[in-house]
Amino acid sequence: MSIRRLLPLGIFLWPVSVWPNPTECVHSPQARGRWLPGFDIHTDYEKKIPPSKLVEHELTVSNQVIAPDGYLTNGGGQWYRYLGRTIEANWGDTLRSSQVYEFRLMQYGTSCYHSHFSIQWAIKINGPSSMDYDVDQGPILMSDWYHADAFALYPTEILTPEAPIPGTNVMNGKGVFDCDPSEAPRCTGKHERHEIALKRGPHRDLNDFVPIQPYETDVLIVGIERYEILITADAEFTNGTNFWMHANYCDIGTWESRLGIIRYGALNTSDPYTPPVSEQHYGFGFQDPPPESLVPIVKRQVGKNMNSFDTPDYLRIGLQAWPNVSDPNSRIHTLLLTNRSICLDWSDPSLKKLTLDANPEFPPETSPVTLQLSDWELGVLPHPEQLHIKRCCHPSNHPRSVHPIHLHGHDYVILAQGEGPFPDDVVPNLDNPAKRDGYYI
Ligand SMILES: *[C@@H]1O[C@H](CO)[C@@H](O)[C@H](O)[C@H]1NC(C)=O
Ligand SMILES: *[C@@H]1O[C@H](CO)[C@@H](O)[C@H](O)[C@H]1NC(C)=O
Ligand SMILES: *[C@@H]1O[C@H](CO)[C@@H](O)[C@H](O)[C@H]1NC(C)=O
Ligand SMILES: *[C@@H]1O[C@H](CO)[C@@H](O)[C@H](O)[C@H]1NC(C)=O
Repeated sequence: MSIRRLLPLGIFLWPVSVWPNPTECVHSPQARGRWLPGFDIHTDYEKKIPPSKLVEHELTVSNQVIAPDGYLTNGGGQWYRYLGRTIEANWGDTLRSSQVYEFRLMQYGTSCYHSHFSIQWAIKINGPSSMDYDVDQGPILMSDWYHADAFALYPTEILTPEAPIPGTNVMNGKGVFDCDPSEAPRCTGKHERHEIALKRGPHRDLNDFVPIQPYETDVLIVGIERYEILITADAEFTNGTNFWMHANYCDIGTWESRLGIIRYGALNTSDPYTPPVSEQHYGFGFQDPPPESLVPIVKRQVGKNMNSFDTPDYLRIGLQAWPNVSDPNSRIHTLLLTNRSICLDWSDPSLKKLTLDANPEFPPETSPVTLQLSDWELGVLPHPEQLHIKRCCHPSNHPRSVHPIHLHGHDYVILAQGEGPFPDDVVPNLDNPAKRDGYYI
């Protein structure tokens, strides 16, 4: 029997050349492109949203000592009470929590919510899919897991050229830290990994909240982005029916990558066979799939731009010595955006200013980037190495895992992307370019 499974993070994508024009209303394993009468995978979700129903999720936030990887750590957030809890609703619904967050689900797909303090959890907005599948395995989140909190890690971040390295990685809140309970009092000795059970047969994809034309790949680097993966469960059983799901701390080739387990048949619960480390599977840095691979199904033509590709319009990002910008040996650096280091007043958040204040003020030290909303806005985000402000900047000897900024919750298209100095003759792709809402720079 052919079984298709939805695995929103994984390795294999399988192409679908045609799918029936989804005009019927039934969403089913054979017709994932359909949704509700009048709504399907081709519906322009920026213009048309299904009728709303109110969905409420109650999350309890508390501080707990937890050991997701077998090592006791102070964990904030809603981890303990709701381990691995996914917020789930349908496209068009309205989500409310006991806080004041209430928002209409204008798009659909899988994403994550996080506090910038602790772990991230999944949010799953059901809607049509560009590929048919049989079984939805639910979201799989891979996270770095630190044994110290952000405040303890901060000195490493600002005083050394190295990034704080996580203690381990976890997949859906489970991981295995290499420690010995007889030597380390905080070591629990618990070894638990995220497991999924597959039956043989085919199994999906999308990116962010943007349905794309499915494509096939052997390797997918996942940063802040989300992907939906269709896997075909047709593995060879030469070395048993159990298989590792690997994920690496970016750029450290020797990092333990065995994170989760796929089992065909639940009876054999031994660890999978470990193949020799493949050179194909580590050390990519923060690379995204080529934007040409991410072709949106709902087509969009990018209109006339409001600004130019000219150098003065670059949104410059970089690191600057602090407090003396001219000191090449400075140990402390500040992050620059548009040539400035951002200084924000946390008690006066930007979103509050924009939504509640009658006359919001953004003084220069807040480094505002003003966009004209009447038309398209081009933004050139050069890598720090390309900034023409090198004399004041840290030479880029940071490990590749350290990205100066990431964007999420922004809605934009990628007109061009590449490595090396920004060329003068870049040709922007204005014809249905890749669309994103989360990105590492
Ligand atoms: C099975 O294990 C053998 C011996 O370690 C190895 O040579 C072979 O490539 C493995 N086969 C598969 C399909 O992983
Ligand atoms: C159980 O799985 C392991 C690894 O996948 C394999 O080496 C072993 O032979 C299997 N045991 C049985 C009884 O099938
Ligand atoms: C800043 O650093 C430069 C280069 O090391 C040095 O010449 C200058 O005196 C410093 N300025 C101050 C105020 O320390
Ligand atoms: C940023 O700094 C560079 C070099 O100092 C300068 O050429 C450029 O005009 C500045 N851009 C802005 C937007 O201030």
